[in-house]
Amino acid sequence: MYPQLRIDLSKINQNLDTVVSIAKQGGCSLMIVTKSFCADERIVGEILKNDYVKYLADSRVKNLAKYADKARKAGKETVLLRLPQMCEIGDVVRFADISLNSSVETIALLNEEAGRQGSKHKVVLMIDMGDLREGIFFRNEDKIFDAVSQILKMENVILEGVGVNLTCYGAIIPKPDNLGGLCEIAEKIENKFDITLNIVSGGNSSSIYLIPKGELPEKISNLRLGESFILGNETAYSNRIPGTANDAVTLRAQIIELKNKPSVPIGEVGVDAFGNVPVYEDHGMIDRAILAVGRQDVDHEGLTPLNTEATVIGASSDHLLMDVSKENYKLGDTVDFSLDYGALMNLFTSEFVEREYI
Ligand SMILES: Cc1ncc(COP(=O)(O)O)c(C=O)c1O
Repeated sequence: MYPQLRIDLSKINQNLDTVVSIAKQGGCSLMIVTKSFCADERIVGEILKNDYVKYLADSRVKNLAKYADKARKAGKETVLLRLPQMCEIGDVVRFADISLNSSVETIALLNEEAGRQGSKHKVVLMIDMGDLREGIFFRNEDKIFDAVSQILKMENVILEGVGVNLTCYGAIIPKPDNLGGLCEIAEKIENKFDITLNIVSGGNSSSIYLIPKGELPEKISNLRLGESFILGNETAYSNRIPGTANDAVTLRAQIIELKNKPSVPIGEVGVDAFGNVPVYEDHGMIDRAILAVGRQDVDHEGLTPLNTEATVIGASSDHLLMDVSKENYKLGDTVDFSLDYGALMNLFTSEFVEREYI
C-alpha cells in the first residue's frame, strides 16, 4: 500500500557503521537518537545489534517505552533527551535509565519517584553554552555548582554527567571554544566535588564535523546523533558525511490523477487551504499528476523526486501535485522521493503512511 516509506536496512547499517567509526575516532560513546523515525521497531532492532552503541535516546517517553525492555536486555541504556515534564515523572523513571535535566525541582521529583519504584535514575545536567535552549546558563557557575551539590545529596539519583545542546534554537555552531567551556565546567565540578563524570555530552549531529578535523575537545566523551545517522548529514554546515547514504529511507507515492491542464488556476485568486495566497508561474498547458500523499503526512517542500524529471508544484492536505510533462507516467504509477529531516520525521509520525523494509 502507498504512501510508503521504503527503509533500506543495509543502508541504515552503513550509516550506523560510519557514525560509529567517527565516534570511535573522537573517543566518544554514542547515543543514537530514535525520534525522527518514531522508534521504528526494525531500525531500533539494527541499532541494538551494534556493540559500540551504548545508548538509545529519544525526546518522547512514549518512544522509549516501545523499546526500553529490549534495549536493556541488549545491555543498552535508554536516554530521555527532552527535559522531563512534571506530569510524566513516573514513566521517565520507568522507561529512561538516564534523562537530561536542568532544574533541581524536576530532579528532586525523579529522586522521589525512583525511591518509590525501588530504582536508581541517572541524570545528565545540561549546561547552556549560548544556544539558549535548555540548560543552566554557563556564566552562572554558582547556580551550576549549587545544582550539583543538591543532586549529590539525593539518594536515588546519580549525577552521570553534564551535557550541552547546540545548533537548535540559536543555531550556534559547536566549536573548540564553546565545547571547551563545557569541558572546563566538567573539570571544575569534578575537582570541587571530588567526583568523576562518566558523560560529558558534546551535542548532536552538528558536533560530528569536529572529529575528522581533530578539533573535538578531548574531554567530550559522548555525542547524541540523530540526523547524521538516519540521513548522513552533519548539521553545523549542512555537509554530507562521506560513507553515508542519504536515501536509506525514501517515500513512494501513487498517482491517482493524470490530466493535461493549464499551469495557472482560472478565476479570482483567494487563499489556499492553508490560508496562503498562492503565486503561480505560467508554463502554458502541462501534464499534471496528483499523488495520494499530502500535508497531513508531510511538508512537500522536504520532498525531492528521485530518478525522474517530474517536479513538485504544490500540495494540499491529502494531495501532492506534480508537473510530469517530461515523463510518461500512467495512472497507478508511483514516484519516489528523497526526504529532508522534517519530511522524514513527519512521514514516520503519520499513521497513514505504510513502511516497507528492503
Ligand atoms: C537534546 C538533543 N540531543 C540530540 C538530538 C539529536 O539531534 P540531531 O538529529 O541533530 O543529531 C536532539 C534532537 O533530536 C536533541 O533534542
